[in-house]
Amino acid sequence: MSEVVKLERQDVIAIITVNNPPVNALSAAVRGGILECVNSAIADPEVKAIVLTCAGRTFIAGADITEFGKPPKPPGLNEVLAVMENSPKPIVAAIHGTSLGGGLEVALACHFRVATKEAKLGLPEVKLGLLPGAGGTQRLPRAVGPELAVKMIVGGDPISAAEALKNGLIEEIVEGPAIGGEAFARKVLAEKRPLRKLRDDNSKLAAAKADRSIFTNAVAAMTKRARGLEAPFAAADAVGYAIDLPFDEGLKKEREAFLKLVASDQSKAQRYAFFAEREAAKIAGVPEGTKPRNVERVAIIGAGTMGGGIAMSFANAGIPVTLIETGEEQLKRGMGVMQKNWEATAARGGIPADAPAKRMALINGVVGLDNVKDADLVIEAVFETMAVKKEVFGQLDKFAKPGAVLASNTSYLNIDEIAKETKRPQDVLGMHFFSPANVMKLCEIVRAAKTAPDALVTAVSIARKIAKVPAVVGVCDGFVGNRMLAQRGKQAEKLLFEGALPQQVDAVVTKFGMPMGPFAMGDLAGLDIGWRSRKDRGIKSEIADALCEAGRFGQKTGKGYYKYEAGSRAPLPDPDVEKLIDETLTRLGRKRRAVSDEEILERMMYPMINEGAKILEESIAARPSDIDVVWLYGYGWPIYRGGPMYWADQVGLKHIADRLAFYAKETNDPSLEPAPLLKRLVAEGKGFASLTASSSKAA
Ligand code: 3HC
Ligand code: NAI
Repeated sequence: MSEVVKLERQDVIAIITVNNPPVNALSAAVRGGILECVNSAIADPEVKAIVLTCAGRTFIAGADITEFGKPPKPPGLNEVLAVMENSPKPIVAAIHGTSLGGGLEVALACHFRVATKEAKLGLPEVKLGLLPGAGGTQRLPRAVGPELAVKMIVGGDPISAAEALKNGLIEEIVEGPAIGGEAFARKVLAEKRPLRKLRDDNSKLAAAKADRSIFTNAVAAMTKRARGLEAPFAAADAVGYAIDLPFDEGLKKEREAFLKLVASDQSKAQRYAFFAEREAAKIAGVPEGTKPRNVERVAIIGAGTMGGGIAMSFANAGIPVTLIETGEEQLKRGMGVMQKNWEATAARGGIPADAPAKRMALINGVVGLDNVKDADLVIEAVFETMAVKKEVFGQLDKFAKPGAVLASNTSYLNIDEIAKETKRPQDVLGMHFFSPANVMKLCEIVRAAKTAPDALVTAVSIARKIAKVPAVVGVCDGFVGNRMLAQRGKQAEKLLFEGALPQQVDAVVTKFGMPMGPFAMGDLAGLDIGWRSRKDRGIKSEIADALCEAGRFGQKTGKGYYKYEAGSRAPLPDPDVEKLIDETLTRLGRKRRAVSDEEILERMMYPMINEGAKILEESIAARPSDIDVVWLYGYGWPIYRGGPMYWADQVGLKHIADRLAFYAKETNDPSLEPAPLLKRLVAEGKGFASLTASSSKAA
């Protein structure tokens, strides 16, 4: 028996238990252990049936991702699964927690599956740039039919035990995995049920064989948002093999496609992102064992764009919220927006029909800051003005209960200065959510000079609880994300002065894989905000100013850098803008030149990376991978490019530093000079990955 898999016997039932914390990943030792235990249970004449179950918090959650890219260690999973499926004695998978990827593939090779009520079952490989590599694409369509199989394999989201039962993926819902599995095995023996080998059961493939549109429609729906990604298409093809080819041939083709994807740059980047996200939850410089404070009730101040979205995120996770406004009217407007948002989601089938009412019931809308008194965490989301923030935090100091964590959602302002308004700066930090806050996953947790470790841990832990991805950052103008974005914005504007058009710049950025270019983003946010702030500060930006002077404030006025048709958000290039740019440049005595797409890409991306290097030097971010997490989850950086710092390593830091130095000279912009850290890494022949061990895990 191996260390991680043990075999016990309850009279005629052999119970095989995998115990490989934290998630029972299928390491070589687990694969070997299962094979050994199954073989010895088959060989034991006393044993009549076998139950495969797991200790700890979950059933097998998949292959061990850290093994990918390394020389394969025997036995291979397919080999183990063939022995299981061909076992003459029934094998029952008893599932609890999450049965994912290779974990579900193990269960699919068993003859029967039972699961606890809260269990989730899925094939999420596609999210790692992969496809199921141990029969998942061949057995799942045979278990649940190609339509649901496509949804699960190409989309990657798991289904609940109830759904699994409805669709024939499991036989029963049980109370406890080991006990339930054993009881089910006894039933199989008593009823003399024939062994169900999915490989031999083609009954659920018949409909899609007769009418291929069942399959192609499902694929079309699931790949609609897969722009730029390779894995979803390869995964869809593999489900097609199940329909078209005999099992063994399909299995062979699946394996080939899996091996190709494992070696692909996209999957390497996506695996890196998986570990980067988990690494970001580990806070540098906090004493080990620091426990989060208890958070049962949250107060949110301001029911505007952000406050409303943040309140929705908490209610979505079942956490009650006190939502505070300055007056009844503002409150009514804010509550109305939330209700409408949830109702729209329910109408699309995204949440159950009764969810909007249930979630609204968790939000107690009130007027007056004294209402924060019961909250364990207070999040301020009022106007972005230091004076208003200070006023609010001064009041919070008076009303909030001792030990409550006091967070600001400010985009740019100095949290240290805000903390000074209180007598408890140890409880103050930033929780910077991104718009729309109920959708975007990132939460920058801003650690101020005096923030206590347990306050920080509380913010990180509650962010994870509401399904956000936290990244801890330090105090500076714009923190990590917006500070880097500002560099891109500056170059985007300069490119217009040199001859590029908004649509050309945006096209390069979206072709790279970002959801939006800087000018379409400006139109969405509203150009008047920047215009007003420039006026206040006595700063000019001729093209942007000229647009605003012409009443072009962006989407809200139907015109900005682009024009918009009534009711549409699609940006349309506008000849009037080109004319306005030409006129402005003529007035300034400048001539347009042809700007290549290559130059645009370099000037959009490299200055951000340079700023990222400065952010690391100043310890505003602890690890390059934390910066990547910010961009992946806050700005829609394409996951198959890993994040800006990871991508920079792939491009090569020397090339980036050389090009920055070139543009610094060529455009007379000293801010583009390579940062000292970038220069040092180039001189040492290293990449950003060398700065921490974090990225090596996914090698
Ligand atoms: N391999 C190696 N390590 C894994 C792992 C895996 N499959 N899944 C999780 N881990 C590690 C995490 O890195 C983390 O390590 P850390 O504590 O050192 O940071 C630890 O396990 C706990 O993970 P989480 O923090 O994510 O724990 P949660 O409880 O929040 O979530 C989970 C658990 C839902 C299982 C989540 O970890 C997850 O989604 N894991 C990945 C599942 C997956 O993608 N499976 C498919 C793998 S590919 C495959 O199976 C190929 C096959 O077809 C051949
Ligand atoms: P908003 O103008 O939509 O909402 C602010 C709300 O705060 C208003 O409803 C206002 O009535 C209320 N308010 C003002 N003073 C208050 C007080 N003393 N007590 C209670 N309520 C008060 O503003 P928005 O966009 O929601 O921004 C809020 C904060 O979030 C700002 O700090 C902003 O910088 C930040 N932020 C904004 C993002 C965005 O895209 N809009 C993104 C990330 C952060």
